[in-house]
Amino acid sequence: MMRLLGIETTCDETSAAVVALGPDGTRTILSNRIRSQDDAHRPFGGVVPEIAARAHVEILDTLIKDAMVEAGFGFDALDGVAAAAGPGLIGGVLVGLTTAKAIALGTGKPLLAINHLEAHALTPRLVEDVAFPYLLLLASGGHTQLVAVEDVGKYTRIGTTIDDAIGEAFDKVAKMLSLGFPGGPAVEQAARDGDPERFALPRPLFGKPEPNFSLSGLKTAVRLAAEAIQPLTERDVADLCASFQAAVVDCVIDRTRIGIRTFRREIGTPSALVIAGGVGANRAIRQALQRSATEAGLRMVVPPPKLCTDNAAMIAWAGIEKLRRGMVDGFDAAARPRWPLDEARAKPGARA
Ligand code: KG4
Ligand code: ZN
Repeated sequence: MMRLLGIETTCDETSAAVVALGPDGTRTILSNRIRSQDDAHRPFGGVVPEIAARAHVEILDTLIKDAMVEAGFGFDALDGVAAAAGPGLIGGVLVGLTTAKAIALGTGKPLLAINHLEAHALTPRLVEDVAFPYLLLLASGGHTQLVAVEDVGKYTRIGTTIDDAIGEAFDKVAKMLSLGFPGGPAVEQAARDGDPERFALPRPLFGKPEPNFSLSGLKTAVRLAAEAIQPLTERDVADLCASFQAAVVDCVIDRTRIGIRTFRREIGTPSALVIAGGVGANRAIRQALQRSATEAGLRMVVPPPKLCTDNAAMIAWAGIEKLRRGMVDGFDAAARPRWPLDEARAKPGARA
């Protein structure tokens, strides 16, 4: 039995969770407390780092206490303490990592400094038995990558966005259509009643042989289409959202198809196609990927939406994956604003 406390503070969700791995391999989320800071950031239309850091400080102790109470045991019963050590907003990362260090030091338990992206990448193994290697579409507010997950700590980036992340594009489209913050769920909701064919929007990089993504031109096309029909009615907004989402879906399907081909050529046979990161909460994108997987003869694994967006259960689980391999961190583990999964392929200056 292995029981870990996980802490997540890299962006605008504060979270504490306890996850257990049983001797028979059973994974149990004993608690997963998440406090979103959406209300605090909404007036600014995006995440304000200083507000985020302060909000983490204010609530983290309470969330940890609640998570432990729900789990039903004290710090002494833990086998380790895991915290996201990056990439992310440095103020918030410092709050979570320092708290984890304090608990680990005070209780003599091992410390696990977790890469937030690695935690997203390993989440499918928390919910299902998924063998290495698998193909991961990691799509969040800051990242859009196709990654070959070959083992814990062994990730090969197959493709990446050359400009905006998918989640970022959803957020920007939401902002320009005054749908509020965070944008992803709002755009998905508005798209539900819209006509996906009303606006002919571009599908950047569609058909290109490298499995990369580009969202910036699509986002601009939405802005131009919106400006051309001012003032916007509710129907216009719904149609714009539906057309935008349909374009993203087409790109995701096409880019993933190329990604699978690249994986088979460079890595081998993937055990599954997996999606992780906040964009994985989008139902249209989940369904599209399911079709891509079926077409390629691959199993599809999609964590439930609550485990796709930022949460501490994924941090605790990544901690378990590392701890059982003896990959423990020292108290000198640094908080890292940038921390690419595949250091070798990360371009200088690229978003982590
Ligand atoms: O993984 P996450 O919670 O935080 C980061 O690490 O970035 O991802 C948040 C991103 C945001 O850009 C948000 O708009 C997007 O994921 N997102 C969605 C949906 N839910 C969250 N995008 C599209 N559709 C959704 N339903
Ligand atoms: Zn994330």
